[in-house]
Amino acid sequence: MNYRHAFHAGNFADLHKHAILLALLAALRAESPAVAVIDTHAGAGAYDLAGEMARRSGEAEAGVVRLKAAADAPSVFGPLLDAIEALNKGASGNLYPGSPLLIARALRAPDRYTGCELRSDDAGLLRQSLAPFANARALEADGFGTAADQAGKGGRAVVVIDPPFERPDDYDRIVATTRAVLARAPDAALAIWLPIKDLETFDAFVRGMEAVTDKLVIAELRLRPLTDPMKMNGCAMALIGAPSAVETAAAEAGDWIAARLGEPGGRSRVWRP
Ligand SMILES: C[S@@+](CC[C@H](N)C(=O)[O-])C[C@H]1O[C@@H](n2cnc3c(N)ncnc32)[C@H](O)[C@@H]1O
Repeated sequence: MNYRHAFHAGNFADLHKHAILLALLAALRAESPAVAVIDTHAGAGAYDLAGEMARRSGEAEAGVVRLKAAADAPSVFGPLLDAIEALNKGASGNLYPGSPLLIARALRAPDRYTGCELRSDDAGLLRQSLAPFANARALEADGFGTAADQAGKGGRAVVVIDPPFERPDDYDRIVATTRAVLARAPDAALAIWLPIKDLETFDAFVRGMEAVTDKLVIAELRLRPLTDPMKMNGCAMALIGAPSAVETAAAEAGDWIAARLGEPGGRSRVWRP
């Protein structure tokens, strides 16, 4: 496993994913007295954007740095910007929260969070990031297996799936895990992150998911036309069981990112297969 999220933290895809994730949690809080979140691919929990990895990639400069400077950022980014500010209280201003910290901050007393991370170095950092949160725990474990085994224990299941897509079977494992989660917890909400490089791969994934659920909503964001399949040209969040307010939030986030951080021909749309 070579992937380190520190190279990518705070990039356009993180902004899209994290704004939608926070909108999902807010909508689920209004519907469910308790949620049990499993974050299958948690990462380190927080990232130093002044660190070597983030500086080398420059992705945060083209993402969160521009969001923070924007005068026209829509309200969907408010909770993410609040979380960034809270994390940086008394610090340099260079810290960016990953999904574990964003979710842990949003928990109520009856809610639970489990973050899974397979790399020991990032799992150690994850444990440190989550230490202040009594109802959040870090597991050095395979997130797909953990979600399939544990979804629905102790509250409405919310499963966040965000693999690095280094392994060719990541797409198949997402489909299998979604099937297993919905078998255990039919009212589960799932939020699945996907890269968009070429349309064939993306379409094949959507067709696989259609065989598992008829509740799929895709929040798709293209930074540019898909002419070069070697580039990450965009990203998507596949949502299942998300309240309809989340679709509005996803459209707001995607439209702003495509217009302000994208290239000519970039666009966003929220659609049902
Ligand atoms: C895209 S990053 C996660 C970013 C995080 N979700 C966020 O938004 O802040 C993916 C992480 O999954 C870890 N990973 C890869 N395969 C895994 C698996 N099967 N189970 C748990 N973690 C895994 C990688 O080491 C990496 O840290």
